[in-house]
Amino acid sequence: MIADFKDWARSRQVRIETSLQTLLPSTNVAPERLHDAMRYCVLGGGKRVRPLLAFAAGDLSNADEERVTIAAAAVELIHAYSLVHDDLPCMDNDVLRRGKPTCHVEYDEATALLVGDSLQSLAFQLMAEYRLADAPQTQLDMIKRLAQAAGSRGMAGGQAIDLSSVGKMLSLPELEFMHIHKTGALIRAAVMLGACCGNSLNENQLTSLDHFAKCIGLAFQVVDDVLDAEATTATLGKTAGKDADNNKPTYVSILGGGRARELAEELRRDAYQSLEGFGPMAARLRQVTDFIIQREF
Ligand code: IPE
Ligand code: IPE
Ligand code: MG
Ligand code: MG
Ligand code: MG
Repeated sequence: MIADFKDWARSRQVRIETSLQTLLPSTNVAPERLHDAMRYCVLGGGKRVRPLLAFAAGDLSNADEERVTIAAAAVELIHAYSLVHDDLPCMDNDVLRRGKPTCHVEYDEATALLVGDSLQSLAFQLMAEYRLADAPQTQLDMIKRLAQAAGSRGMAGGQAIDLSSVGKMLSLPELEFMHIHKTGALIRAAVMLGACCGNSLNENQLTSLDHFAKCIGLAFQVVDDVLDAEATTATLGKTAGKDADNNKPTYVSILGGGRARELAEELRRDAYQSLEGFGPMAARLRQVTDFIIQREF
């Protein structure tokens, strides 16, 4: 890993935090409790992996950082919404998230639903409100890409499959399909939106980048499954061992932890290969890839 990755990541995490602080409605504005809950769920926690990916992908197209920041904030708002809903009693029924009580525990279930609704709307408001690309058509394509990634053929669809798979033994292709949707889709959008904020990439470059994003999106959830089984609640900031408790099919329950880790390594190699044509411009993307595979929480 290049020595300055930590500094680079920290500076981008601060940048996204500062922007989210200003973009989220203030707690002084009515309805105060809803706005307070939205800020509680978005600010002051999380690894901000999706924004890091957007910034790193922006390097490939010489993207303007202000534009990438808005696109990254939109993706992070959708991600935060997905976590609030994922933790609800009707889904994973979790009480701890990012080291704090989950939204429905700290506030109430109805508030948690509305926080999710409102974060998703705010994400699309930002995508429409700020100039993100020179060509209006490019910006419309970006909004469409984010909508597809969040919707029933992306994250929400993956979550539906996750819930209907409880107690089932999935085949590997079925498991991959679920993970590519519930987690991969939004990660893929983060990468592609970051790149779209800059100069246009050619078809080959877009295909390679999309393949890269698909690999790391899947790898991210494979590692999440491994950490759920092997790490502690204190390290994760969310309850460890929940997948087994909830009887979820995961890469660990189906392949075992060792093989799941090997798969993550294979996906890293595949991801690296997809970046070959970009040369040194993809250095940050390689570093974020390493972080995704090697992280401990
Ligand atoms: C957790 O995502 C949920 C999954 C999609 C696996 P992250 O591990 O990115 O959660 P935060 O944002 O760092 O809390
Ligand atoms: C969640 O997957 C994916 C989402 C779309 C939120 P998990 O249910 O495994 O995420 P964690 O482990 O609760 O963070
Ligand atoms: Mg879940
Ligand atoms: Mg969960
Ligand atoms: Mg998990």
